[in-house]
Amino acid sequence: MNKNLKIAVIGGDGTGPEVAAEAVKVLKAVSKLESITIQFDDFDINGNRYLKTGTIITDKEVATLRQYSSILLGAIGHPDVEPGILERAILLRLRFEFDQYINLRPVKLLPGVETPLKDKKPEDIDFVVVRENTEDLYTGAGGFLKKGTPDEVATQTAIYTRKGTERCIRWAFEYTRKRNNPKGKMLTFVGKTNVLTYGHDLWQRTMLEVGKEYPDVKIDYNNVDACCMWMVKNPEYYDVIVTTNMFGDIITDLAGMIQGGMGVAAGGNINPEPGGCSMYEPMGGSAPKYTGKNVINPIATINAAAMLLEQESFTAAAERVMKSVAFVTGNKMQSQAAGKMGFGTSEVGDLVCEYL
Ligand code: IPM
Ligand code: MG
Repeated sequence: MNKNLKIAVIGGDGTGPEVAAEAVKVLKAVSKLESITIQFDDFDINGNRYLKTGTIITDKEVATLRQYSSILLGAIGHPDVEPGILERAILLRLRFEFDQYINLRPVKLLPGVETPLKDKKPEDIDFVVVRENTEDLYTGAGGFLKKGTPDEVATQTAIYTRKGTERCIRWAFEYTRKRNNPKGKMLTFVGKTNVLTYGHDLWQRTMLEVGKEYPDVKIDYNNVDACCMWMVKNPEYYDVIVTTNMFGDIITDLAGMIQGGMGVAAGGNINPEPGGCSMYEPMGGSAPKYTGKNVINPIATINAAAMLLEQESFTAAAERVMKSVAFVTGNKMQSQAAGKMGFGTSEVGDLVCEYL
């Protein structure tokens, strides 16, 4: 196995650089223990630079980033920049240009972490959402007619292609098989087939067709509204969920809360093809009010780093990080909320390194 890894680090805005630094610290520590050589290259891509220079990200930077198999992203979003500008120019651009068609969001309640769901325990909240990441309402297809007049028309088109649908569903079946849930392998398509009679019909048919190749995986379906209900009432029902981009965006915020909040929830934007460039991030934002105070929770970003190692096939290193994180949340941290952890941001990073 290749024991060398090059990671591009985009700290980004607000608390992003602080949490990214802790994830880098943990990656450095685990790479020593596992004899992996990791090179980290920092990229100055953020709102401050945009405000100072007018540039968010250059084509040259995009071309350079493309050479990396993994990017670690802290957070994007600056209080002085209109919401959406940085997100579209950085996050969405890289997802699309690098064809990161899988958005992988594990939903796991770690030991010691509080969930708002009464009486639910770590064994009840342990599933994964595979969100399609390049199509649907996110393509920007649409427009205005007679903008600004009383007769204005706005359209926003959800686009689903057979290819885009199939590659995501196939990946999700493979993932479900590999995850090998001892309670039984099940892939739930979350959609809205009763209303989205074209797009989600394509999804449904593709599920059933591709599913024939995976007789060991139970094929399941939930309407998205019902899924929100079940996720709160019976989260233990789920193994792997596969869903469209927009619904995936929405249900993973709900899922993020039941696993303990934005302090712990992580996601991977994955291009699984050979030579593909993937990007790993905490699900939370840049939290401007906590910036520079050493109070933000770095666990989500450390979890994102574990996901990075896993996808790069450094399985033992990934497991080591995940185990250490579970030990630290279970035995050391008082809370996952910023400022209430019982430790500072950098101390939490140190603790994870200590128990590796
Ligand atoms: C996410 C975020 C993004 C999305 C925003 C910031 C564009 O909510 O990663 O879930 O909608 O995908
Ligand atoms: Mg979201």
